[in-house]
Amino acid sequence: MKADDLRQSFIEFFESKGHLARKSAPLVPKNDPSLLWINAGMTPLKPYFSGSEDPPRERMVTSQKCIRTNDIENVGKTARHQTFFEMLGNFSFGNYFKQKAIEWSWEYVTEVLQFPEEDLIITIFHEDDQSFDIWHDDIGVPPEKIIRRGMDENFWQIGTGPCGPCSEIHLDRGKEYGLEPVDELSDEVLEREGDRFLELWNLVFTQYDYTEAGEYVELPQKNIDTGMGLERTASVLQGVDSNFEIDIMFPIIREVEKQTGCSYDEKEEIKTALRVISDHIRGVTMAVFDGVIPSNEGRGYVLRRLLRRASRYGRDLGYSEPFLYTLVEEVIDVMSGGYPEIGQRKDFIEEVVKSEERSFLRTLEDGLDILEDQIEEMESENRPTMSGKRAFELYDTYGFPLDITRDILSEKGLEVDEKGFEEAMKEQRQRARQARTEGGFAGGEVEIYEEILENMENKPEFVGYEKLEQKAEIIALIQDGEEVENLSAGEEGEVILDVTPFYAESGGQVGDKGSIFDDDLEVEVNDVRDFLGLPVHQVKVKEGELTADIEVKLEVDSTLRRATARNHTATHLLHQALMEVLGDHVTQSGSLVAPDRLRFDFTHFGSLEEEEIAEIEDRVNAEILRNREVESRITSVKEAKEGGAQALFEEEYGEEVRVIEIDDFSLELCGGTHVQATGEIGLFKIIDESSIAAGIRRIEATTGTNSLNYLRRQQNRIDELAGELNSDENSLLDAVKYLKEEQEELEQKVESLQDRLASQKAEELLNRKEKVDGVDIIMENLQRTDRETLRILSDELIEHLDNGFILLASTGEESVFLIARAGSQLVESGFDAGDMIGEIAAEVGGGGGGRPDMAQAGGSNPENIDRAFAAARRLVEENL
Ligand code: ALA
Repeated sequence: MKADDLRQSFIEFFESKGHLARKSAPLVPKNDPSLLWINAGMTPLKPYFSGSEDPPRERMVTSQKCIRTNDIENVGKTARHQTFFEMLGNFSFGNYFKQKAIEWSWEYVTEVLQFPEEDLIITIFHEDDQSFDIWHDDIGVPPEKIIRRGMDENFWQIGTGPCGPCSEIHLDRGKEYGLEPVDELSDEVLEREGDRFLELWNLVFTQYDYTEAGEYVELPQKNIDTGMGLERTASVLQGVDSNFEIDIMFPIIREVEKQTGCSYDEKEEIKTALRVISDHIRGVTMAVFDGVIPSNEGRGYVLRRLLRRASRYGRDLGYSEPFLYTLVEEVIDVMSGGYPEIGQRKDFIEEVVKSEERSFLRTLEDGLDILEDQIEEMESENRPTMSGKRAFELYDTYGFPLDITRDILSEKGLEVDEKGFEEAMKEQRQRARQARTEGGFAGGEVEIYEEILENMENKPEFVGYEKLEQKAEIIALIQDGEEVENLSAGEEGEVILDVTPFYAESGGQVGDKGSIFDDDLEVEVNDVRDFLGLPVHQVKVKEGELTADIEVKLEVDSTLRRATARNHTATHLLHQALMEVLGDHVTQSGSLVAPDRLRFDFTHFGSLEEEEIAEIEDRVNAEILRNREVESRITSVKEAKEGGAQALFEEEYGEEVRVIEIDDFSLELCGGTHVQATGEIGLFKIIDESSIAAGIRRIEATTGTNSLNYLRRQQNRIDELAGELNSDENSLLDAVKYLKEEQEELEQKVESLQDRLASQKAEELLNRKEKVDGVDIIMENLQRTDRETLRILSDELIEHLDNGFILLASTGEESVFLIARAGSQLVESGFDAGDMIGEIAAEVGGGGGGRPDMAQAGGSNPENIDRAFAAARRLVEENL
């Protein structure tokens, strides 16, 4: 049975049992900060389990894309571990419970998939007598084939949220897959004989909610959540030894075999590499399709790890150039049975993969060299563990995710101090955090807002689309994360109101500023942020006192609001213009709409040509000059999408949405504030275009008076430049060209003088060389000489000294740079400059390293340079 057929048969089976089939959710969880990835069929459905949202139907069935990385180091080494996989699952939200879940799973497994009943083994939670009775009395499974297991094995939970006891169906693949003979089934036997007794299907009886506080709270309704690994089940049905050999994975491996000439069955290392590559490239392709881009944080970093780990394994197969991107096509091919849409983004995915591979390969060589050195050192010192700090340096400087360092070390029987790595990482994060001054709901202390929301009957009403002034009542005042009775003059804090005209930061548009006032009261509103629909006004009291429960007047700063609106409407025009000029692949990936500028991030490869930028500007300005009407209205998601509305990639909208329609030019789902007609926007000017990540470009632009100010500043700069060069605007370019030519000439002169000086210096030093035991020695401090010159000089000298040793130093005010060279003959006789440089540098308070023929070092105590020379002399003599 093909994997595509298995997926379909599962869905159809449960459809026939009244389930609603839904497409796999994207791999990126929505509104669930407890999770990095969707990692089970049930995770996108959590709100239906907890009862916080109503499901479209109480019975559902899916095949869900999942990513799990907790066992990444085992991927490739075993037959079953994968990071990306699909989970087949049927779900009940307060509808059927254990009885039906068990009956249907048995029916599907024995009648549809036709596994022989006698080969199936059941596990249950040790206290779950009810399940025992169903399996035994109703289904007829003999008691010795029903194994009771504890919390670790048969209680399912992942992060916080819905969880409960579970029952699993295992398949006995037969004695030939076992390690030892089995007389009687038990918990231990299943554990030990995982290859023989394969877990097929997990039925979770979801009846608890595991809270942040660590408690199991009974859910209002009893649910079912099941999970059957698609790849694993397919592997049994297709009679292959591992998940990697099934029809939606093996073609990827075949393609790599074809490209490299290696063979899957040749040896274990090759098999591992091929498995890693096929698993990771599937995950990468699917994740990039779902909008994830490699980065150094969160999900983006997981993606980067997968890519780099696969790329590193590729080297073992002989690749030295980017190759993973060439496999994307194969992935799309095997996966489009279940996900026909991925082909649409093929070019984009390939570009993302390729550019990430390229940037990794650039530093890979250097990093591998360093790692090799370290391994040698560890081996010679008999030290099995690499310090966390070292591993972190490799990560930080050469982009080696811990997985790669771990993989390479483990091939040599060595390991990494992972805790130390985490610590080094944490330290760096802390430094970064301190450096960041971003505000927000800092430190994640949000309990107070949750509490306020819980106590409110209705969320505060937003009236800011129509009004900029409003009377309101103060619901709560907050200071440093605690509710307070009042805020007096000079104090800063946060205000919650029952109704507000202030726009809270959202959809890229910044929060409004303005004031809260009354007789004897003056309060600045500096920002407004949204916490799950609760607008939080950040204020500073100027005069008087704010007290809970009083009534106040509110006024939004209309100048800023209008400037922001100009930029917001311009952003929509820009989005449309980008699609028209660059193509349909342009997708918004972020934006900032502030009063003084707008920023728009979008998917596109390669930088924009000057003509393209001009064309985009022209396009937007033409629409502004047309003075098109801008209309906002509320409509249904369906209608909006049918009308061709642009929606942010993956953003989920409620049933009713607000759309902004600019005549027949643009239609977008948007909750922001806009101008009434495009003419209000004034001049639209792009002021910067750059790359922010592989495949993501950023445009910054201004509108209205900000564009005028921008152009005025440009003009002033030109005038200043012309003044400095005693020129005028028209001949400025010639003046600069002339200056450059003059400089080039001077540089050439300096260079030839330097060369002459170096040759002279070399000659002088050669004349002064000493002889110790037949070896030529030159040691010299060339104060304040730059490193490059020192290196060139040492190159020139060593050419004449096959049987010689050179130590050149350059001392500065607080630093020393040392370079040591040994001639080829000396090196052949076993002399090693790299070995002695450390001891020499120690005399000037530093350290260094290198090879037998060349070593470099730095230090910070130039006053001790003579001691360094003395040490060098002693060491040279000792080593001859
Ligand atoms: N959610 C359950 C699992 O992941 C079915 O195994």
